[in-house]
Amino acid sequence: MQTRYLSYRLIYRLFVLMLLIPIQLQAGDIITGNAENGKAIAEKKCDRCHGPGGVSEDADTPHLAMQTSAYLLKQMQDYKSRARDDKNMYKRVRKLDDQQLADIALWYASQPLPEIDPQARKNLKTPKLVSEGDSARAITPCDICHGKDGKTVAEMVPVLAGQQVDYLISTMEYFRDGTRNNDPGGAVQAIIKKLTDVEIEAIARYYAALGGRPAE
Ligand code: HEC
Ligand code: HEC
Repeated sequence: MQTRYLSYRLIYRLFVLMLLIPIQLQAGDIITGNAENGKAIAEKKCDRCHGPGGVSEDADTPHLAMQTSAYLLKQMQDYKSRARDDKNMYKRVRKLDDQQLADIALWYASQPLPEIDPQARKNLKTPKLVSEGDSARAITPCDICHGKDGKTVAEMVPVLAGQQVDYLISTMEYFRDGTRNNDPGGAVQAIIKKLTDVEIEAIARYYAALGGRPAE
C-alpha cells in the first residue's frame, strides 16, 4: 500500500513538473516600456470597455488592473496573431506594435484593483480543487500556479483574485471546449477539461470574491 502511494505521488509530481516546464520557459522575458505611453493608448482605445485604469464595470469584460504585465502582453499578442481567437479583441490590437502593447501591459499592471466586500471574504471557503486538486481525476491544485491567494506565483500565470465572475466562467468554458487554446503546451486545457459546470462556477465565485488590493 505504502509503495503504491509513494509511486503515485512521484508520478503526480512529475506530471505537475511537466505542466510547469512550458510555462517557465517563457517566464524569462522582461518587459520594458513606458507606462505613460500605455496609459494614453489605453484611455483612447481600451478603457471604454475595460474601465478607467482597467477596472471593468461589465461582468463579461475582464479587469486588466493588477494583472501581471507579462501575461497581459502575451494575451494581446495572442489576440493579434489569433492564437487566442476573439474577433472583437483582434480588432482592438491588430494595429498596435509590440512596443505599444508592452507599454499598455505595463500601465494596466501598475493599476490597483479595488478590494471588494471584505465581509464576504471572511466566510470564504477555499474549494478543495483549488488547494488540493483531485488525485482521482489527476487534477492539479490550481494554487500551485495561481498562488494561495489567487495572486499568482509567476509572471506568465494570470492573477485570478478579484477577476470578474462571469468572465472567469466563460473563459474556463472556452478552455474546456477548446475554443481558447493559447495556453502553453495545452496545460491549462488539460486541467479545465475535467471540471464540471458546478465546479467551474464555484471556483470562479471563490476567486472573484478574493478581491484585489486596496485602491491607493
Ligand atoms: C468593445 C469592448 C472592448 C474593447 C474596446 C477592448 N476590449 Fe479587451 N476584452 C474585451 C472582452 C469582452 C474580452 C474577453 C474576450 C475573451 O473572452 O477572449 C477582452 C479581453 C482582453 C484581454 C484578456 C484578459 C485576460 O484576463 O486574459 C486583454 C489583455 C485585453 N482585452 C486588452 C485590451 C486592450 C489593450 C484594449 C485596447 C487596445 C482592449 N482590450 C479593448 C472587450 C474589449
Ligand atoms: C501548471 C500551472 C497551472 C495550474 C495547475 C492551473 N493553471 Fe490556470 N493558468 C495557467 C497559465 C499559465 C494560464 C495562462 C495561459 C495563457 O497563456 O493563456 C492560466 C490561465 C487560467 C485562467 C484564465 C485567466 C484569464 O484571465 O483569462 C483561468 C480562469 C485559470 N487558469 C483557472 C485555473 C483553475 C480553476 C485551475 C485549477 C483547477 C488552474 N487554472 C490550474 C497555469 C495553471
